[in-house]
Amino acid sequence: MQQLPATLPQLLLRWYDNNRRRLPWREDPSPYRTWISEVMLQQTRVEAGIAYFERFTDALPDIAALAAVEEQQLLKLWEGLGYYSRARNLKKAAGILMEQYSGQLPADFEALKKLPGLGEYSAGAIASIAFDIRVPAVDGNVLRVAARLLDDDRNIEDAAVKREFRQTVWEILPQQRVGDFNQSLMELGALICLPNGRPLCECCPVAELCRARAAGRQQSLPTRQKKAGRRREHKTVLLLCRPGEVQITQRPARGLLASLWEFPTLPGQHTASEVAELFSAPLSAVTALGSATHIFTHIEWQMEGYCVELPANAPLFSGCLSVPVGELFSSYPIPSAYAAYLKALR
Ligand code: ADE
Repeated sequence: MQQLPATLPQLLLRWYDNNRRRLPWREDPSPYRTWISEVMLQQTRVEAGIAYFERFTDALPDIAALAAVEEQQLLKLWEGLGYYSRARNLKKAAGILMEQYSGQLPADFEALKKLPGLGEYSAGAIASIAFDIRVPAVDGNVLRVAARLLDDDRNIEDAAVKREFRQTVWEILPQQRVGDFNQSLMELGALICLPNGRPLCECCPVAELCRARAAGRQQSLPTRQKKAGRRREHKTVLLLCRPGEVQITQRPARGLLASLWEFPTLPGQHTASEVAELFSAPLSAVTALGSATHIFTHIEWQMEGYCVELPANAPLFSGCLSVPVGELFSSYPIPSAYAAYLKALR
């Protein structure tokens, strides 16, 4: 197994002290805030996460508040972030912490790893950042940095390769400031050692140590396997409006976007006249809202949207509720897949 240079911690910590981003969970840290930030950042970019983090921790400032939050308020706070199981796991874990750990996060890597929603990476991040425990926190950024430093062209999505890189980082962890060192590796990946062949080697504090750079291969590393293709689903999104109100329906409790609210849909793509006919409405009551695409991990929605203006006494579409438009925005978590059509209501 190749080794990372032993001087890496010293060089990166110095760089981190001068160049790190000032982020709310870094400048005003606590184990709870570290936990929330790490879960939020699992699938969300740092810049996009900041406002969500502030709103979430203002509304739910501690583990007790999180354990007690109503599911719909929780999902509303998470609205737009996607991967809603992360939010549900946070609440579930908060319940466990209240019952089994006196409402505190345990200063124990193995115990953290057993909490819902935490894995090798996030438990390592919390253990090292919040409790100064000597464990690595190897996310996608760190895998990319390591693949380049070591000029290693194996697939970084392969579990055995990941395990080996974690071990390699483990071996050079400093005795002190291990959380900062882990974050300095991530920060280098986020700010300098950029993905998609665009590393800013001229600004890199460890360019001299980088074997990929020495070999001129930094642009083409790391190697990734091609992802399996996504399934494409066509659907017609209906904004069924009575004066001042719009109809929504709740998604099933399991599966994609579980329990979130959405506009009713028809499978397949339909024309305005088909929609008008379905609701026995004149064509003039139907406004085309255009097409939109939303990409999930395994599915892609290709949507065609229509607003249908219905009289106040029109019957409700199957399974729907008619809610005042203001209430829709304040109280019902709507996935950002519908952002293009929510705009039409604002
Ligand atoms: N991404 C996830 N956690 C991070 C952290 N602590 N610092 C920088 N980027 C991150």
